[in-house]
Amino acid sequence: MADRPLGFFEGTEMPTAGWWEALWPDPGGVLCTVGIKSDMDVIDLCSGDGWFTLQIAKIARHVVAIDIDADQLKVARDRLDESGVTNCSFVAGDAYKLNKLWPTPVNFVFMANAFHGVPDKPRLARAVREVLKPTGQFAIVNWHPRPREETIVLGEPRGPRTELRMSPDQTIKAAEVDGLKFSKLVDVPPYHYAIILERSG
Ligand SMILES: C[S@@+](CC[C@H](N)C(=O)[O-])C[C@H]1O[C@@H](n2cnc3c(N)ncnc32)[C@H](O)[C@@H]1O
Repeated sequence: MADRPLGFFEGTEMPTAGWWEALWPDPGGVLCTVGIKSDMDVIDLCSGDGWFTLQIAKIARHVVAIDIDADQLKVARDRLDESGVTNCSFVAGDAYKLNKLWPTPVNFVFMANAFHGVPDKPRLARAVREVLKPTGQFAIVNWHPRPREETIVLGEPRGPRTELRMSPDQTIKAAEVDGLKFSKLVDVPPYHYAIILERSG
């Protein structure tokens, strides 16, 4: 689409209707499931309108919201401002350029609902590894590879096109690059799973 920023990942538009909140009624619970803790500095990569960013800010020491779409970042900033949290930074830019956008190493990179659209996934994984502290973690929250017509939210099929969806094995294979090892797979009902990788070198 002409009005998308250059480098926008396919099938990663932020939903406009109210169904995101219906699908993710407990974003804080997802963050606990993937292992985000109070002593962590976290990057919320492809943060969108900040639905998860706000909850990360409530759990972690600090969170950096990164998104290529400055308009989404503004919505996220307003959301966090309204909630009174102050431990958050906002950076507009392309996820591939992560270590230029935020050169300070972090404990955790969280990426929800975007990895499926990255054209060169190992490149993205290497960029994430570069910003992780030793033993830092990378969580990818992805849609299960079910047909789109089966993933119903508020009475309608939702989410990325079926062909873009990835199995856990495909995600692990794409993200396990040098120095980034698969550590855990967890289910995130009703339609998602999370892969957690750890920096190993
Ligand atoms: C489906 S939304 C998910 C937002 C958030 N992670 C969530 O789950 O609520 C995906 C986001 O990825 C962003 N995005 C797409 N391509 C990107 C890129 N190359 N670099 C950084 N962000 C990107 C989009 O602007 C959008 O806000």
